[in-house]
Amino acid sequence: MKPFIAALPKVELHLHIEGTLEPELMFALAQRNGIQLPYADVAALRAAYDFHNLQSFLDLYYQGAAVLQTEQDFFDLTWAYLSRCQAQHVVHTEIFFDPQTHLARGIKMGTVIAGIRAALAQAEQQWGISSCLILCFLRHLSQEEAQATLDAAMPYLEQIQGVGLDSSELGNPPAKFTQVFDRARALGLKVVAHAGEEGPASYIWEALDRLQVCRIDHGVRASDDETLMTRLIEEQIPLTVCPLSNTRLKVFDKMADHNLLQLLERDLCVTLNSDDPAYFGGYLQENFEAVAKDLRASREQLRQLALNAVQASWLPLSRKKTLIAEILTLP
Ligand code: ADE
Ligand code: ZN
Repeated sequence: MKPFIAALPKVELHLHIEGTLEPELMFALAQRNGIQLPYADVAALRAAYDFHNLQSFLDLYYQGAAVLQTEQDFFDLTWAYLSRCQAQHVVHTEIFFDPQTHLARGIKMGTVIAGIRAALAQAEQQWGISSCLILCFLRHLSQEEAQATLDAAMPYLEQIQGVGLDSSELGNPPAKFTQVFDRARALGLKVVAHAGEEGPASYIWEALDRLQVCRIDHGVRASDDETLMTRLIEEQIPLTVCPLSNTRLKVFDKMADHNLLQLLERDLCVTLNSDDPAYFGGYLQENFEAVAKDLRASREQLRQLALNAVQASWLPLSRKKTLIAEILTLP
């Protein structure tokens, strides 16, 4: 199955660029910027990647992001991820970034966006990899802080296609951000939100009804609520599911327990994604491989997952049609 997965034109819709910071690059950037990391070496850092829930991961993830300081750092980070895309035949990617993590350390919005955008432009030119950029609000912070973040992004709106909502889910329901999402939509931005990763199915309802999102990030808890399942199926609202992430963060005890194929078999628009690949043990190819191996997904199921990602993307219809034809004709 590996060669089939490798040959599939793949689209990624749930990827935090700060979550692609591999330990080696973290150490290199720490050295470049004169920052002392609280780990002796790469092996010690990797050994700390033993998570028991979302929060235990987020604590390390925010700590690691502190090595990102200059435009060049954001370029190098994004370029490293895009090089993986090129190697794995990921042809389009819609990338999250967490500006509040950086603004809080005195880094300018323009620095973050310029570094990421320069890498995206070079990958498009050099490899034909297309992309979108999604600004995420940190849900453990207030709506006022999210509004201030959107204010800071106003000069760069042309370079951002959407907004999202991430970080600590439990106790921070989507409705907390209703006004800032209203404002983002009025500005013409597309909107998505993490919901139903650790949080209950009611958060998915809120993301749909209060934030009016066009996709749900994760959403695996939808299976707890049959009425919600009917709605997601009827409206074909995509779920950006992240299998390796879900097992590493103990949303499911082991891959064999994951419900994504049950959701797919109910005709939900399920897509596969890597979330924070440097922390969870694999990029998009490895997520497909894990689903093939541990869930015994068939070739046709993997093909459907790849088709769903094209459908759920923000690509123009003409490119969607081309990619769909390529995926359907792959032997
Ligand atoms: N930020 C980075 N990865 C995340 C995830 N899986 N859930 C919520 N916030 C995140
Ligand atoms: Zn995520």
